[in-house]
Amino acid sequence: MSTDEAMTKALLPDSQLPTHWYNIVADLPEPMPPHLHPGTKEPVTLDDLTVIFPPALAEQELSTQRFIDIPDEVRQIYSIWRPTPLIRARRLERELGTSARIYYKYEGVSPIGSHKTNSSVAQAYFNHEAGVRRLTTETGAGQWGSALAFACSAFGMGCEVWQVRASYDSKPYRRMLMETFGATVHSSPSELTQAGRTMREQFPDTTGSLGMAVSEAIEAALTDPENARYSLGSVLNHVVLHQTVIGEETLKQLAMFGEDQADLVFGCAGGGSNVAGLSFPLIRENLAGTTTTKVYAVEPSACPSITQGRYEYDHGDVVGMTPLMKMYTLGTDFVPPPVHAGGLRYHGMSPLLSHVIQLGLAQGLAVEQADAFEAGVLFARAEGLVPAPEASHAVAAALAEARRRTSDADACSIVIGMSGHGQLDLPAYQEYLNGTML
Ligand SMILES: Cc1ncc(COP(=O)(O)O)c(C=O)c1O
Repeated sequence: MSTDEAMTKALLPDSQLPTHWYNIVADLPEPMPPHLHPGTKEPVTLDDLTVIFPPALAEQELSTQRFIDIPDEVRQIYSIWRPTPLIRARRLERELGTSARIYYKYEGVSPIGSHKTNSSVAQAYFNHEAGVRRLTTETGAGQWGSALAFACSAFGMGCEVWQVRASYDSKPYRRMLMETFGATVHSSPSELTQAGRTMREQFPDTTGSLGMAVSEAIEAALTDPENARYSLGSVLNHVVLHQTVIGEETLKQLAMFGEDQADLVFGCAGGGSNVAGLSFPLIRENLAGTTTTKVYAVEPSACPSITQGRYEYDHGDVVGMTPLMKMYTLGTDFVPPPVHAGGLRYHGMSPLLSHVIQLGLAQGLAVEQADAFEAGVLFARAEGLVPAPEASHAVAAALAEARRRTSDADACSIVIGMSGHGQLDLPAYQEYLNGTML
């Protein structure tokens, strides 16, 4: 390996925008356990899935095909911000005194500031193609909600979002962003659905959870089958699939830096989509025997589904409307404390990423909230970019590793999944800086 010592960022031209999404299912040594129908407990079929998803997304959910074409209409919208840069954090390296070469793949250049648009644009497109007029969804931090609001506006569709109460109250700017794109936003649990009313009765003071908001958004779609479908921002196979553009670009950009491989990859994991999207194309190279990349899915200690949860069949929502999925889970009744990384407050983990971890192809790591913010501040001061609190978890884990590597013999390449920027999360940074963070 000979790295380019002068280069700081690898920018791919528009012509290098990926043409395919990568489906790791085709290459895994063992098939993943199927999703099960919540009623019959039999493996779900295409027909089952098309009740809430358009046919193309239902097919992607069950697909075993290695590469899936990205439609031109989706690539055109991607080209507003993709390919995203891979940046070498040289100033951070100097600050840490590490021999590691630290890179970050920056998804915060998207219109709403995170990786979520990679899937929202695809989902809005396939729904629009199927004649759907309105999408319903949940959102934690508001990142997914604003990504879907942007995508729905791009295809002239309506968008209704249930935002977890903790974030709805603490992140008014994300709600304003969603409304700017024309979406309607409700605090969850709400009075608008049976699921919401029941949860409010049982737990009047709840701060909400993604699992509750998912139940509300699914119920809202099911009660308007003529016009509406439901859309999920993470966890499912087709969402992970859409995020693989991150890893495909990263492979090319590492080569531009003269790197043979990423030795270590750190991505934060809420439902698992960004770390899976970044790492699955790299794991493909591992499986082909050409690289030996180690992948870490970094979660908050307050919501540790991989490191403390059980690997078993569970629902994706509180009420039990989603298929049963074999995944790392803390149980649907787990209500995580209102950690500032709202996008990481989910009880389960992508079944595909869970399976990949089970196969030993990636591993989980948990990080404390205070350590994540400490790392986020250090990163901001060195690189001039405030990471989203979610992404700061990946930064913290990467920095811990980089600090251990000070000699030439320890040198390695580290890639951080910088899933988004934190410019709308500054009140959380303020609390950290004031010492008032719980
Ligand atoms: C910036 C950011 N990163 C990461 C996540 C976690 O989601 P996932 O694990 O699906 O990438 C979120 C979720 O809202 C987010 O907003």
